Amino acid sequence: MPEPFLPVCEPLLEGNELDYVTDAVKTGWISSAGKYVTGFEEAFGKYLGTSNAITCNSGTAALHLACKAAGIGPGAEVIVPDFTMIASVYAVQYCGATPVFVDCDRRTWNIDVNLLEDAITPRTRAIMPVHIYGHPCDMDPIMDLARRHDLVVIEDAAEAIGSAYRDKLCGSIGHIGCFSFYANKTITCGEGGMLVTNLPEIAEKARYYRNMCFPLGDAREYRHEEIGFNYRLPNTAAAIGLAQLERVDHYVECRRRNARRYNARLQDLQGLTTPVEESWAVNSYWMYGILVEDEFGPDRDAVMRILRENGIDTRKFFQPMHAQGCTAATVNEGVGSYPVTDEIAERGLYLPSSSGLTEEQIERVCSCLREMQAA
Ligand SMILES: Cc1ncc(COP(=O)(O)O)c(C=O)c1O
Repeated sequence: MPEPFLPVCEPLLEGNELDYVTDAVKTGWISSAGKYVTGFEEAFGKYLGTSNAITCNSGTAALHLACKAAGIGPGAEVIVPDFTMIASVYAVQYCGATPVFVDCDRRTWNIDVNLLEDAITPRTRAIMPVHIYGHPCDMDPIMDLARRHDLVVIEDAAEAIGSAYRDKLCGSIGHIGCFSFYANKTITCGEGGMLVTNLPEIAEKARYYRNMCFPLGDAREYRHEEIGFNYRLPNTAAAIGLAQLERVDHYVECRRRNARRYNARLQDLQGLTTPVEESWAVNSYWMYGILVEDEFGPDRDAVMRILRENGIDTRKFFQPMHAQGCTAATVNEGVGSYPVTDEIAERGLYLPSSSGLTEEQIERVCSCLREMQAA
């Protein structure tokens, strides 16, 4: 009998999700007003230690609101890692601004802080560090550079709930932090996002743009001074998000336990680079990524194919931002070369990483990789 298909990621909804959603439906509070929206925002702010937590309907929306609230517009440049998910770049492009790409570090796969300063120009307004796959970026040099050049730091923490840099949770270190609650995230509400900040003027603008630029405090005055967006999160989704947040420490520990189990089984295999956890980092291991080096034998695509033939789902690493069709018109010529991103995009894949993954399932994946090498 073939073994059951093992997906790359599945949500785990085993707390108060059903009770809270049922309550929202039964009471008729299904749009973007309701106690789960405010409850989710309050609980999230408390968790992160930020004075403002603002729900919205995706991580992409959170990043767009962050850029808008930070005053990013045409003519501005925002520094973004070349190795990221496309939403980081879209958020900048939605504002009519230019993303400027910086290569990544081969150990952490995060933006290479040693290359940052060279990417700054008189038009640079912000840096967007992205905590890739749950490993925090090296934030001290980023914050230091931002202070010296008067730049806004927008953390893309979409993949990094529960990750920490030194003693601070990711998302709470920069001026603005953005999270995604898409179904594969460590906590989810199906689709959703959150913007956090300690800056009241940023929070006010984010709320304003989120709600179609209705005048704050009086939405019934149909006057709109600027172009706004409907990025509101429904109460039904916030109900799921709040229930998930109640168990966030458990879900983060599940991801970390997955990583310990994978690490223990893969460390003896030649030619597989496994994720790191720097001394200053807590990696929440949103996804367990590996690099297939030449010594492994089969290349990345062959590894993915063989795992797939054995019913095991994987995903390729993100492909470089500088090589996307949607960035072709604005690729920064000054910096121009991204050898590390190019390489890890060719070698990288991530293995099944659900919070509910069992030890037997992890053993199944690892024994398949062992057999490939032995073959
Ligand atoms: C790094 C990163 N930024 C932004 C997003 C966008 O979030 P969403 O899918 O909720 O719009 C994602 C993921 O999905 C992501 O991985």
